[in-house]
Amino acid sequence: MDARDLVRSVRAVGTTAGSAWGWRAVRSAWRRQRVDASALPRRGAERARVPGPATGAEPEPGGGVVRFARSSLRVRVTSVGAVFCGWDGAEPEPSYALARGCPETDVRALLEPDKDGGWRVVAERMTVSVARDGTVEIRTPGGLLLRRDLPPRWWDPVDGRAGGGAGGRVNGRPRGGPAAPPLKGPEGPGRPDRWPAGPAFRPTGPRWARRSEVPADARFFGLGGRAHGPRLRTGEYRLWNTDPGGAFGPGDDPLYITMPVQFVVSDAGTHLVFDDNSWDGRVRLWEGEEGGGSGHDRPGGCEVRMDGGPVRRWIVVGGPARVLQAWTALTGAPALPPRWALGHHHARWGFGSAAEVRRIVAGYREHGLPLSAVHLDIDHYRGHRVFTVDTERFPDLPGLATELREAGVRLVSIVDPGVKAAPGEPVYESGKAVDAFVRDARGREVRGVVWSGDSVFPDFTDERVRRWWGGLYAERVARGFAGVWHDMNEPVSFAAFGDTTLPRSARHSLEGRGGDHREAHNVYGLTMARAGYEALCALVPDERPFLFSRSGWAGMQRYGGTWSGDVATGWPGLRASLSLVLGLGLCGVPYSGPDIGGFTGSPSPELFLRWFQLGAWMPLFRTHAAITAGRREPWEFGPLVLEHARAALLERERLLPYLVTLAHLARRTGAPYVRPVWWGAPEDRALRDCEDAFLLGDALLVAPVLGPGVTRRAVRLPRGRWYDTATGQAYEGPGRVVVDAPLSRVPVLARAGAVLPVAGERGAVELEAWAPAPGREGSGVVVRD
Ligand code: GLC
Repeated sequence: MDARDLVRSVRAVGTTAGSAWGWRAVRSAWRRQRVDASALPRRGAERARVPGPATGAEPEPGGGVVRFARSSLRVRVTSVGAVFCGWDGAEPEPSYALARGCPETDVRALLEPDKDGGWRVVAERMTVSVARDGTVEIRTPGGLLLRRDLPPRWWDPVDGRAGGGAGGRVNGRPRGGPAAPPLKGPEGPGRPDRWPAGPAFRPTGPRWARRSEVPADARFFGLGGRAHGPRLRTGEYRLWNTDPGGAFGPGDDPLYITMPVQFVVSDAGTHLVFDDNSWDGRVRLWEGEEGGGSGHDRPGGCEVRMDGGPVRRWIVVGGPARVLQAWTALTGAPALPPRWALGHHHARWGFGSAAEVRRIVAGYREHGLPLSAVHLDIDHYRGHRVFTVDTERFPDLPGLATELREAGVRLVSIVDPGVKAAPGEPVYESGKAVDAFVRDARGREVRGVVWSGDSVFPDFTDERVRRWWGGLYAERVARGFAGVWHDMNEPVSFAAFGDTTLPRSARHSLEGRGGDHREAHNVYGLTMARAGYEALCALVPDERPFLFSRSGWAGMQRYGGTWSGDVATGWPGLRASLSLVLGLGLCGVPYSGPDIGGFTGSPSPELFLRWFQLGAWMPLFRTHAAITAGRREPWEFGPLVLEHARAALLERERLLPYLVTLAHLARRTGAPYVRPVWWGAPEDRALRDCEDAFLLGDALLVAPVLGPGVTRRAVRLPRGRWYDTATGQAYEGPGRVVVDAPLSRVPVLARAGAVLPVAGERGAVELEAWAPAPGREGSGVVVRD
């Protein structure tokens, strides 16, 4: 356990200390460690392997296979513009990320001989060249180098037990069948001989690592939701979805959503690479250095290390918009939120009773603050048990839901995956009856600890279990809930030390292929989201599902959005919450937002207001806080904050038609609502390094206030003319300007020539047009719901 894990564990116990949870967390941690010690064999002797020299190649539709002495590489160009590169026989499928399996092959592309005895595949947006040692270079159609992936290195177990442990598969081939041979050829590494898998055991693929180089000026983004971005600086980033415990700040990594998705921007162009592998891994990034024209640039680079699983990479090249379009064509169009979900939400852990919910809703009304939804946290459950209601505090939930609905307010329910393991508990018994819960290597139910105490965990990687779980949402719908909020689905099991999750040796179905938690962990939240989304589609077919999930993986946008999780109250937390939203958007997840005011403690009135003003421009606009935290209602911070929060809320309402348009555009094109300022000008280096402002769609540039005592701030403008929407003052970009940022508002600039839909009188949609710069024309897009 490293120091950071230790801090986390102490924090995790801290949140549960003083209760029975504290002791349970100690017991659970010991149990997890014991189970893993017996089920996961220690790593034995290993032999390093690299592909070795090339021995030949075979063209096939869309690309071809290059053979090496000890491996092979398949390159395949697909119709969505994404290129697949799979080593050691890895195929695009099976995959949890791909929306509809592997897209069609673009048969126009073909593997052909290249200089120096290598090969290349020319696709519409990139040229992929494969050198004789297995180095893969990605270039723009104009020949500029975007990326150089050095040959992978594997560590094959000498005793044949690749990856160690039971379950799993090689290169995505089903376990139970013969060990998957590499692509046939005289050079074959003869792996079946070296991995003599017995009937009850299939190797999982050896651990591997791979280095890459990118141009010296390149900047990295992505890797899921990271707190200290959006620009990812030199450092190590883990790929293991994690509840940081307590609350997190910019220094905490990893968090709830990790993804092996790198979004790389350089002068040469923009590209995205995705390692389609859900195993535990680490990405080490280093930013390059330019030699100032001396010709001695030091390239940037990265090294991806995975504990197992296939070596297969998808590559997308183009401007940011093209990249996101191809990425969401591959992994799925973002779900469209219902219109009400673009309004303001108020959540609270610890509402306590229906009366308290009514008091809050009335407060919003009395203070002239529009409200769309109220979220009920675990305290409305009976004993924190999912799919139950504490009927003493919430005697008539359907009645409350109807009453709120009539006032234009929807109810949203938290849903946690952990099921109280107690005989006689209906959810537990019904899950047991269908064998729904994750088991250990010896076939026993895996027990963990969450809010309700001893808990078991549905195996969402099993289609049967997803259907059973989805059936339980009928209870939520019948209670009047209009949407769901998935939480604790990394998944979390409280532990006094080590990882706060399930044992790594816990078994999962993985769609019938079989495997363990090392492979299933990162897709647990994704598969839970699938279960919930499909259930809501079936249960309420004429309404758009509203679902957002704390954890997830590549492709989660198909089922809904996410939120920042438990961001620590404080100015650094405010900044971290913007970083998360921007980073996730570049990974294809456009709908998210922070806990306004932060999850913990009590923000100062100024901090609360600045957070509220930021949140008003985020797709998910929600106040939320922990049970122990101070109040978060805008009227609790004095008349000035109330007045300015109301102004932010009313502006949000006015812009709803624009947000609806952005939601539709995200669905159709993958473009996130909230975009980095370099979105339209990735070649502008100063913009690439700008992390304190963002674009909302094409029309607006928002420059939030992220520190105390600020009344004016600098804003870096992309090229073109921009108007301060409050004063009408015009500025010319590119460049840096200083604008007023009084407590009453954050600076928002409109692009000259932008036309955007806004709410007019009595529900009409009006167009707001900003004068084009001289000699130019204006335009905009309106999508009606
Ligand atoms: C987790 C969630 C938080 C929620 C709490 C209680 O910490 O991230 O939003 O309020 O659990 O359910």
